Amino acid sequence: MPVPVSLRSVDIGYGATSIVRDLNLEIAPGEFLVLLGPSGCGKSTLLNAIAGLTELAKGEIWIGERNVTWADPKDRGIGMVFQSYALYPNMNVEKNLSFGLHVAGVAKDEIARRVARASGILQLDPYLKRRPSELSGGQRQRVAIGRALVRDVDIFLFDEPLSNLDAKLRTELRVEIKKLHHELASTMIYVTHDQVEAMTLANRIAIMRDGVIQQLATPREIYQRPANLFVAGFIGSPAMNLLSGSWVASGDGVKFRSSMVEFDLSGRAFSGAERDVVAGLRPEQITVGSNTGLPEVEATVSVIDAMGPETVIWCTVGDTLMSVRVSGDFAGQVGDIITLGLDLANASYFDQNDGLRLTQ
Ligand SMILES: Nc1ncnc2c1ncn2[C@@H]1O[C@H](COP(=O)(O)OP(=O)(O)OP(=O)(O)O)[C@@H](O)[C@H]1O
Ligand SMILES: [Mg+2]
Repeated sequence: MPVPVSLRSVDIGYGATSIVRDLNLEIAPGEFLVLLGPSGCGKSTLLNAIAGLTELAKGEIWIGERNVTWADPKDRGIGMVFQSYALYPNMNVEKNLSFGLHVAGVAKDEIARRVARASGILQLDPYLKRRPSELSGGQRQRVAIGRALVRDVDIFLFDEPLSNLDAKLRTELRVEIKKLHHELASTMIYVTHDQVEAMTLANRIAIMRDGVIQQLATPREIYQRPANLFVAGFIGSPAMNLLSGSWVASGDGVKFRSSMVEFDLSGRAFSGAERDVVAGLRPEQITVGSNTGLPEVEATVSVIDAMGPETVIWCTVGDTLMSVRVSGDFAGQVGDIITLGLDLANASYFDQNDGLRLTQ
């Protein structure tokens, strides 16, 4: 049965340095939760605390009905997969998978059953007699996942398991992990700083910065409605275009005014206070061509990134550089003057002072 994980008012520090402060997080049974954030924000620290490898300074960790705050790592029902595979170099794959079970005194036929199951799920059957040195990086990482799998755990913790692999392998193994989650329906907590991994794997993403969760939501919600400017800038490639401006009173409502464009937001569900704001437009919220019905600006094409099915064009409007996502058959040239339609009605708006999203 999948189990929930609950982090309650958790503080973690190293010596006098506080890394995570008063963090609360409820992870649903069977959920795939991704901890995402820049290097040093405390992702591994938090994961290690769940695993019992790092002590809490304050707070509690619950797994299912159990308060495991002070429980030994081996008693938490957790399997952990690290970035470095840490396989036993002198043992073949089969022994790597079974060794921990032998040590734990599991019966022989039970060990054989679990190894066969893990090997089947992870497609390791052809490699069981090989040593780690005779495997590719992706195969080694699958063995590392297999070692967590044979332990028959309730919860899987992954700490950047794919970051040592090349791009193609990373994509392949990402799909494998997603299938694994689908098959096992176990609770999985996955640390990464790769937003593509986060977006594709997660049921929900917790975006962290300096030990604080900035937003906890589905990938779609985070992409479409980032809670603040940090999240807006962190998720999306190319990043969201950010236009500084202000809201000024206009009739009963407000108008967005910047150096390049003015747009009436009356009738939209914004609170109408005048303030300095940042409008955020995803590259696909900008259209090339006139008469789009959108507020328009003139722009100069400065770089064209053709990526096959789609092309990203980088345009300058005054001294602002903007990225625009267009179809792969875009025929323009660098230096062209084009008209851009900005979908400001559906843009994200943030308060310039505190960076928080202004609700719509
Ligand atoms: N054993 C330790 N002693 C002291 N400080 C530590 C220790 N481990 C980590 N830190 C510090 O805690 C902070 C968070 O580290 P952590 O490893 O959790 O970051 P992370 O989000 O996993 O980053 P990365 O993406 O680089 O792995 C960092 O500033 C780091 O320098
Ligand atoms: Mg880390």
